[in-house]
Amino acid sequence: MTDKRVILSDESSGKSVELPVIQGSEGEPTLSIKGVPGELGYFTYDPGFTATASCTSTITFIDGGKGILRYRGYPIEQLAEQSTFLEVAYLLLNGELPAAAEYDEFLNDITYHTMVHEKLNTFIKGFHYDAHPMAMMAGVVGSLAAFYHEKLDMKDPAARMLAAKRMIAKMPTIAAACYRHHMGWPTSYPLNRLGFTERFLHMMFSVPAEEYEVSEVAARAFDLLFILHADHEQNASTSTVRLVGSTGANPYACVAAGISALWGPAHGGANEAVLNMLEQIGSVANIPKFVEKAKDRDDPFRLMGFGHRVYRNYDPRASIIRDAAHEVLNELGTSDPLMELAMELEQVALKDEYFIEKKLYPNVDFYSGIIYKALGIPKSMFTVMFAIARTVGWVAHWLEHCDNPTPIGRPRQVYSGPAERKYVPLSQRD
Ligand code: ACO
Repeated sequence: MTDKRVILSDESSGKSVELPVIQGSEGEPTLSIKGVPGELGYFTYDPGFTATASCTSTITFIDGGKGILRYRGYPIEQLAEQSTFLEVAYLLLNGELPAAAEYDEFLNDITYHTMVHEKLNTFIKGFHYDAHPMAMMAGVVGSLAAFYHEKLDMKDPAARMLAAKRMIAKMPTIAAACYRHHMGWPTSYPLNRLGFTERFLHMMFSVPAEEYEVSEVAARAFDLLFILHADHEQNASTSTVRLVGSTGANPYACVAAGISALWGPAHGGANEAVLNMLEQIGSVANIPKFVEKAKDRDDPFRLMGFGHRVYRNYDPRASIIRDAAHEVLNELGTSDPLMELAMELEQVALKDEYFIEKKLYPNVDFYSGIIYKALGIPKSMFTVMFAIARTVGWVAHWLEHCDNPTPIGRPRQVYSGPAERKYVPLSQRD
């Protein structure tokens, strides 16, 4: 809170209210509008929360105009280059980078919570083989509440932290189990001698018939992608987790709701949609036609992987991922015509007046699908990869909410339905 006040006056009633200005450690000043309904008798209208802060948070800072993203103050570029996913997870959960002993303890905690109850595998086997993995993930993660609910004392910070670590640890195990169910492969268990991403790749791709050697290139690429996707302040899925959390629901239920929100093509489902779009465009020659479609207001087609609610400049994650996509393809010695297509599409769109004027740049998902494809991840699993990483952000925000709870999330509405009318019995209706 600052000493500054903004006065909002209603000429018709002659009433006015002083709105306190809140200034965070960084970012734009924000008006506290809590007093408006009581003093002036108006609610405020902000569909899609484009102008409204729902909470205060110390976790992640974004400056969309300048293309800045920082976790707990550390620029994403530095973390991407020098850190690891689990160190970033520790940072997001605890607020500080760990000392060596703290890091070892954290790694140990995550490693020893990777197994899931065997009954959970039975649950997964109940799904049809071609169920979408995000639908399975939402169901299975929500069902973790049935395994741990009784034992979780939500008032105990240590119990809450344990639930958070459990989810980070078990998410790759559940994701791999969903994939293996689709493939018809037997269950694979987490190998504790491996690191986080190596263990995940082993669970995904090892089969009993052959030795499986985890590719170092793949493990490193996953670690990077997981760092970049770990948190993004009050995005739709994180806000969902916080909203559900505000009801006092258990964290597994909150994260299951976050998974469902992430699945949408306007959010985490975009990485799958980008690849579908590139396949649909097919060749460089077709780019102009599709760019015109994207600009046509009467055509529902949009350039997937372009545009962002917050970034009005380049998404800093997108440039890191584009470089990583080149590196991965080079190191694996493969080329992908979709990569060439994506680069050309980016160039054409960036020079187009429509995209320039609307400040539409590639977002994090524009190139991530190409890396996942090169690493053997099927399209339907792309958003699941995002969910594994974003679980860290979801639980960090859930922990922050529990430490500093907001009232139950309950937006208002502007009612535009019929005014009061009298019920007419069925026999008297025309
Ligand atoms: N292609 C073409 N036009 C676009 C695109 C796009 N990708 N994105 C926005 N626009 C246009 C809209 O048609 C609109 O035009 P108008 O002013 O003439 O009506 C204008 O730009 C503003 O668009 P909004 O949808 O109002 O912007 P908003 O900030 O609400 O949406 C969103 C952001 C949902 C990301 C949007 O840009 C989009 O749909 N992008 C494609 C999907 C995507 O890549 N999502 C991933 C986001 S990143 C993430 O969640 C991890």
